[in-house]
Amino acid sequence: MQNCSKNQEYKTFFIETWGCQMNEEDSEKLSGMLKKMGYKKAANKIHADLIIFNTCCVRENAELKVYGHLGTLKELKAQNPQLIIAVCGCMMQQKHMAENIIKKYPFVDIIFGTHNAYKFPEYLNTVHQKNSSVVEIQDRETGIIEGVPIDRESTIKAFVTIMYGCNNFCTYCIVPYVRGRERSRKPKDIENEIKNLVSKGYREITLLGQNVNSYGKNLIPKISFSELLRKINTINGLERIRFMTSHPKDLTEDVIDTISECDKVCEQVHLPVQSGSTDILKKMNRNYSKEQYLNLIYKIREKIPEASITTDIMVGFPGETEKDFEETLDLAKKVEYDSAFTFIYSRRKDTPADKSKDQIPEGVKHERFNRLVEVINKSSAKRNKAYMGKIEEILVEGISKNDSTKLMGRTRTGKLVNFEGDKDFIGKLVKVEITKSNSFSLSGKQIQ
Ligand code: SAH
Ligand code: SF4
Ligand code: F3S
Repeated sequence: MQNCSKNQEYKTFFIETWGCQMNEEDSEKLSGMLKKMGYKKAANKIHADLIIFNTCCVRENAELKVYGHLGTLKELKAQNPQLIIAVCGCMMQQKHMAENIIKKYPFVDIIFGTHNAYKFPEYLNTVHQKNSSVVEIQDRETGIIEGVPIDRESTIKAFVTIMYGCNNFCTYCIVPYVRGRERSRKPKDIENEIKNLVSKGYREITLLGQNVNSYGKNLIPKISFSELLRKINTINGLERIRFMTSHPKDLTEDVIDTISECDKVCEQVHLPVQSGSTDILKKMNRNYSKEQYLNLIYKIREKIPEASITTDIMVGFPGETEKDFEETLDLAKKVEYDSAFTFIYSRRKDTPADKSKDQIPEGVKHERFNRLVEVINKSSAKRNKAYMGKIEEILVEGISKNDSTKLMGRTRTGKLVNFEGDKDFIGKLVKVEITKSNSFSLSGKQIQ
């Protein structure tokens, strides 16, 4: 890694991140590299010498947000011509998007994609030294780059990426195009990173990947995701292990057994279903049927009865009929999700579904979306209500966001709990009695 050679005036940076945990983690790495170069975090955009936008393109509204925010930077740059603006992330990995930014926002100094973020210090040096802009998008993924410093937001829980990319090519999804093919980190590198985090006081880790259940398939020697979980479960001092995302086609019984048998692996499964219609699932290239998905859920409920189950669901995929949509509602009612990320299908350039002639009118999509949200909210409220009066183990993460007299943390099942408690316990596990359940969170009081 290079060190920035000069320019004391470019001292502070501000990173705005859109998208999923993959992008969050990339931003933490950018931040880590910048801190190593002597930069400090700015409290806000206005006072920063360097602004980075880490973008997402999974749905159109994610892109629109970036455009909106970029517009506001024009003025900042006019007031401070020394300001350096960088745009990176998934959106930039698409050629037409990067070209668009160059054309419409000529004040952007650095553009790079997801595969070459580790080279950011180099790009920054070029801008400083040569006073010229840098545009570098790498078409193909590189091998895994280990050792990039990470500046994490939390000091208690951390995301640890175990694999990059995706091979699934769901027909609506842009991720495989902008994140490249699946590649897994070596188990030893993952273990060492986690041990290091634990030695710094971290108590919880979330293993990240677009499809964690296919972890290790291309490694020599091969290792399965459950084997990795079992290894990590032996790390002393670590309290909780979570993971996301599981693809239903690859979630094996072995993984379900591992969750139920490993004391540190939390009882929480995020299992995106996308649709409840087997016909639509086929068109999405998801490789499972409604029945197969439900059987998985029943197995989870049987072996890990306390597990919370969450999902991603989309409405308005091309060709989705009212009957297809009702299958989705039926599935959601049968599963009774703890919560769900619900989406309206968004056309993504160059994906197979975008070429379909059966696009669903916006009005129909919105109407279905509202009906789905109603069903999800009902089951969330019901599942939360079942916590009333229970004593739960909470990892205390800090002061509650909506009431500074309270603390907040999560149950093993991932439920957010705001509670009356002792600040000395931040970063520790405590017992909390649940006294109130809301649609999206729980309330309670510390008893130990
Ligand atoms: N790898 C994960 C999640 C990837 S993106 C998985 O396979 O589940 C997160 C979610 O965004 C997806 O689960 C899907 O529900 C949603 N999504 C992806 N592409 C979309 C699109 N074109 N329109 C609407 N939602 C989309
Ligand atoms: Fe996208 Fe499907 Fe890969 Fe998830 S599994 S990232 S939805 S292509
Ligand atoms: Fe968005 Fe890229 Fe994640 S497209 S959802 S930030 S992998």
